[in-house]
Amino acid sequence: MTEKTQSSQAQAPRMATGDRTILPEGAKTIPVYIMGKRYDVPETLTIMKAMEYAGFRFIRGAGCRGGICGACATVYRKAGDYKLYFGLACQTVVEPNMYLTQIPFYPANRAAYNIEELEPTADSIYSLYPELFRCVACNACTKACPMDIQVMDYIAALKQGDIEKAARLSFDCIQCGLCASRCMGELPQYHIAQLARRLYGKYLQPRAEHLKKRVEEIQAGKYDKMLEELTQMSKEELQKLYDEREREPDLASPGTWMPKDTRYL
Ligand code: SF4
Ligand code: SF4
Ligand code: FES
Repeated sequence: MTEKTQSSQAQAPRMATGDRTILPEGAKTIPVYIMGKRYDVPETLTIMKAMEYAGFRFIRGAGCRGGICGACATVYRKAGDYKLYFGLACQTVVEPNMYLTQIPFYPANRAAYNIEELEPTADSIYSLYPELFRCVACNACTKACPMDIQVMDYIAALKQGDIEKAARLSFDCIQCGLCASRCMGELPQYHIAQLARRLYGKYLQPRAEHLKKRVEEIQAGKYDKMLEELTQMSKEELQKLYDEREREPDLASPGTWMPKDTRYL
């Protein structure tokens, strides 16, 4: 959600203030429409920066600014184009005559459960999210996803009971909620997929044996002495240790290089 903090129309070119963006010399401005009102903004900015340039301040609807947190979901149309577009405000660059609005939160049913008490089966998912079977395979969710995730396909995988496939297909989900905003079956796709990933990660994914061994070694105190020594060192000693560390050659074939000091391997 945004809050307007200063007068609407940008009259003369000026610097963005929200993130101290330095505009290229002679940057051109273009018209965009934010919640129905026209603003002239530099053509090089992302939607998020352009909104800040126009005087909006993000209280909600912004987080990482790096395409990871899913807080800045945005919907827009372009003048003369029937198509509805979706994007992340922090990643999508403005275009002339974009009509845009933010969807920082979209209501979607989220089931309550204790993962420790669930069986890693499709039935667990079906009982918590029976609406899964309301999917009509329209694919609107996939078209809306700013992460290019095959949303309909992971829902289809779950309908077939394939938790692993759903977990893998949905791995890049950033929980923005845009898929749910388009669903005529009223599914909360991303919450369902999150449950699939949790079940897969906790119960189904094969364990990494080497990682288990290393954790046991840590718990048995194998590294305690080394850590003790490191914490006693001065900054200069640590710097020297770092500078003289053994490094794998850039062109070493995988698995062929070993350090001379193997005490902690
Ligand atoms: S699957 Fe849905 S919630 Fe996840 S990134 Fe795509 S649109 Fe957003
Ligand atoms: S938008 Fe909803 S109904 Fe359409 S394919 Fe996606 S999950 Fe199924
Ligand atoms: S602010 Fe986090 S994805 Fe855009």
